[in-house]
Amino acid sequence: MKPLISLDLANQETFQDSKYALQALFSPQKWEGDSALSSVKHFVAQSVYITVSQSPEMHTSLYFSGRAALRILLSALHVPTGSVVAIQGFTCAAVALPIVSMGLKPLYIDINQDDFSMNIDDLKRKYRENVTVLILQHSFGIVPAKRDEIIQFCKDHHIFLIEDMAHGYIPHSLQSPPDTLNYCALLAFGRSKLLSSVFGSAVLTPNKALSDVLENAQKELPNAPKSLVYRCLLYKMLLPTIKYTYPLFIGRILHRLSIMTKLFPREISSVEVAGQYDKNYEYKYPEVLAFTLHEQIRRLPILLETIQAAVGEYKTHLPQGMTSPTTPLNRFPYLLPKSSAK
Ligand SMILES: Cc1ncc(COP(=O)(O)O)c(C=O)c1O
Repeated sequence: MKPLISLDLANQETFQDSKYALQALFSPQKWEGDSALSSVKHFVAQSVYITVSQSPEMHTSLYFSGRAALRILLSALHVPTGSVVAIQGFTCAAVALPIVSMGLKPLYIDINQDDFSMNIDDLKRKYRENVTVLILQHSFGIVPAKRDEIIQFCKDHHIFLIEDMAHGYIPHSLQSPPDTLNYCALLAFGRSKLLSSVFGSAVLTPNKALSDVLENAQKELPNAPKSLVYRCLLYKMLLPTIKYTYPLFIGRILHRLSIMTKLFPREISSVEVAGQYDKNYEYKYPEVLAFTLHEQIRRLPILLETIQAAVGEYKTHLPQGMTSPTTPLNRFPYLLPKSSAK
């Protein structure tokens, strides 16, 4: 029986993850201290760039969600109200909402067909002097084809660059962080991302002064409610069973029940669906979720192999006339011929 591949049913969760979530649930010591948080920070700082040992030290702070990290970051940058943040048109509401909630304006830039990332010509066309921040998205974990040019554009125009790798990244696929202090990278550990603790996020920056502000802001955040953390662990415990019994209908019934009873925390809340930033995702990243993430990080090479195999399956089953321009990491985009895009 082939396992189901579905966005809703996170593809990185396995029975190993269930086991660690169960262990975490009954181990009070896994909820205390910061040893897993430190391990996750260490992994994050080491895994993104090849040259991290020679390049400027990257300072890392952790959050409960990428959207909260973005809002805290924009606040730490003291961007004047009314300034513009350039983002790509094809993005998540979780990117635009923190921008708007800070009284800033998103400027939507078109994307390329090959990497689904920001189109530099459209950026140059739409650029105005009030663009103070730019979010460069690695859609589906694909490194943007024009990364170097966009980094240079930001340097030339004194724009703060947020390199958004929330969807995921192949470890060490970036040579180095840009040679500027006006920079940070954003990672996320939600259920639809490469690595998942159901919620979670990291910001890396070579800018020590900025990182100190971020770290202080992070310390001021409330702890995530225990009920929310329990529900994240429950998700990890039950998801593999749902996924692997889905074709037998048991999984379908469990999945439906979990939706009806609101058992699992929602990835996007109804407040966000209504177009408002939701403060309920703004918490400290809990040690116990860091523990589950760290266990998944240890199995990352196997996880990457599984994902590449799933991508290979999709590729062999693409309908005629549809193309997948590049190898995506955790989702599978394909382009429809123009005539079918009604
Ligand atoms: C491109 C991108 N950046 C940032 C985020 C925010 O991450 P989080 O879900 O952890 O808030 C998302 C969410 O899906 C996203 O798609």
